[in-house]
Amino acid sequence: MRQKLSSRTIINFVLDSIIFLAFLATTAPRLTGLAIHEWLSIAFGAAIITHLLLHWNWIVQVARRFFGKVTWASRVNYLLNTVLFISLTVIIFTGLMISEVALPLFGIRLGRNALWLLLHREATDVMVLTLGLHMALHWRWIVNTTGRVLGFPSRPRPAAPAALVSSSSTTEVSS
Ligand code: HEM
Repeated sequence: MRQKLSSRTIINFVLDSIIFLAFLATTAPRLTGLAIHEWLSIAFGAAIITHLLLHWNWIVQVARRFFGKVTWASRVNYLLNTVLFISLTVIIFTGLMISEVALPLFGIRLGRNALWLLLHREATDVMVLTLGLHMALHWRWIVNTTGRVLGFPSRPRPAAPAALVSSSSTTEVSS
C-alpha cells in the first residue's frame, strides 16, 4: 500500500525543488538579466539557510559521529554538503562585492575587481559540479518523492532472483 507523505517530506520536496530551479536560473545571468540575477540570488541565500535549519539535526548528528560509526555514504554526503556550503558562501560574498544593481540601489559600492569576478565564476563551477554529485547521491529519494507527490502509481518491487527464493515457494514473477 502507498505510504502517506508526511508534511515534512512535502515541505522538503517543495523547498528543494525551488532551490534547484532558482539555482539553475542564477547560473545564467545573461539569460535572466543582472537585476533578476542579483535579487534572485539573495533570496536563494535565504532559502538555503532555511534548508540548513530544516536539516540541522542531521548536520549536528553526522558532525558528531563523522570519525566514528557512520556509513561512508553519509561521510561523502557530509563532505559534499560542506563543499556546497563553502562554494555558495564564496559565490554570495563575491557576488555582493561585484554587485551592480542590488547594493548600488542603497548607495553601496564595494571593491569590484577582476579577482572577485574570477572567484565568483570559479566557485559557481565548483558548486554546479558538487550539486550534480549531491543529486546523484539522493537520486532514489528524488525519483520516489517526485513520483509520490505527482501521484504516479508506484512500481512493484522487482521479484527476488530465483536462486534466493526457497525451492518450496511458488513466487509469481510479474513482467
Ligand atoms: C547562487 C548564487 C549565484 C550564482 C550561481 C551566480 C553565478 C554567476 C555567473 C555564472 C555569472 C556569469 C559570469 C560570466 O559572465 O562569465 C555571474 C555574474 C554576475 N553575478 Fe552572480 N551568481 C550568484 C550570486 C550573485 C549575487 C548574490 C550577486 C550580487 C548581489 C551577483 C552578482 C553578479 C554580477 C554583478 C555579475 C556580472 C559580472 C560581470 O560580468 O561583470 N551574483 N554570476
